[in-house]
Amino acid sequence: MSIETTETSSTKLQGHQSNLKLLATVDELRQKNWQLTKWVDGHDILLYKYEGEVQAISNVCRHFGGPVGYHKARGGKFTCLWHNWEFSCKDGTCLTHPGLPLRQYELKINNNEIYINLEG
Ligand code: FES
Repeated sequence: MSIETTETSSTKLQGHQSNLKLLATVDELRQKNWQLTKWVDGHDILLYKYEGEVQAISNVCRHFGGPVGYHKARGGKFTCLWHNWEFSCKDGTCLTHPGLPLRQYELKINNNEIYINLEG
């Protein structure tokens, strides 16, 4: 999922798109070596940068709910901690069990702030 960069102020961004929630800052993501997990309004989110693009997918494995982003991504994929199902960093596709992708979330970056659409 691609991100959109906007020059709109964060106040305007929130005002026009109330479905967006502040997830993290670019600085915070950089400090975590471009991968972090965070809970927002009951959503367990895996935020990361892959091939120059900031993306967000569900951190909840489609198998039994294990933490997909517990380990750092390697070779373009995440490996779930519990039973090693693999998911593509490109789009959350399940590489070991096709047809069971992780949910992708829309992001918007405004200056240093990364917003997520939990409803999209
Ligand atoms: S819970 Fe992720 S592989 Fe089983």
